[in-house]
Amino acid sequence: MIYETHTHFDDASFDSDRDEAIQKAVSAGVSAFINVASSMSTSKSSMELAHKYPFFRSSVGVHPEECAALSESDMDILAGYAEDEAVVAIGEIGLDYYWDEPERDIQKKWFCRQIELARKVNLPLIIHSRDAAADTYDILVSEKAKDVGGIMHCYSYSSQMADKFLDLGFYIGVGGVVTFKNGKKLREVVEHIPMERIVVETDSPYMAPVPNRGKRNTSEYLPYIIKEIAAIKGLTPEEVESVTYNNAVKLFGK
Ligand code: NI
Repeated sequence: MIYETHTHFDDASFDSDRDEAIQKAVSAGVSAFINVASSMSTSKSSMELAHKYPFFRSSVGVHPEECAALSESDMDILAGYAEDEAVVAIGEIGLDYYWDEPERDIQKKWFCRQIELARKVNLPLIIHSRDAAADTYDILVSEKAKDVGGIMHCYSYSSQMADKFLDLGFYIGVGGVVTFKNGKKLREVVEHIPMERIVVETDSPYMAPVPNRGKRNTSEYLPYIIKEIAAIKGLTPEEVESVTYNNAVKLFGK
């Protein structure tokens, strides 16, 4: 049993074969999925997907690159969505200084505001953070994100930094990068942190693991990621599946 903690099956790249792609992932052993929102419109589509498939749950929230046009009324809409039974997290929210768009103050404002929302509705966070480790950490501390915890999705920082996020009660999301030739830094993080704080994710349709790198990614490829973690940790793939599954259940409550 595999718990996929980050996928985007509502993405248009699945429009022609969504059902089939989901069934293939189920056949590959995935039995629980978090479909992650990244905008106001995908908050809605993600939730609808979770209504259609009983083994799907959804997040709601707005990615830093999508936050320029946000307003307070959008926060009210998200708070309303968060009442839905299928909604188990706020995300993906955060900071992206790689693309650096919109300007950092705007990204920070809506990151803070959505953490506040998560605390109000008592749901964990799914964090997107790229080239912004220090500011992400500082905001998580100042906004008391420890109260709800969450996942550092697609983790790309150092082992030292990982320790600080673990201290805030966060899990480290490990995806396809762990299989990449240039994924050494993430493999070191996986070696360093306890198994009890790792969850697995694909971020599909992006970031396909080796041997499918460059193709459309799908949750069906999670076993490649699990196999790599197992090799690093000296465990069997079944052990990695079981621990990461339990970690996700602990965080999301189901
Ligand atoms: Ni994502």
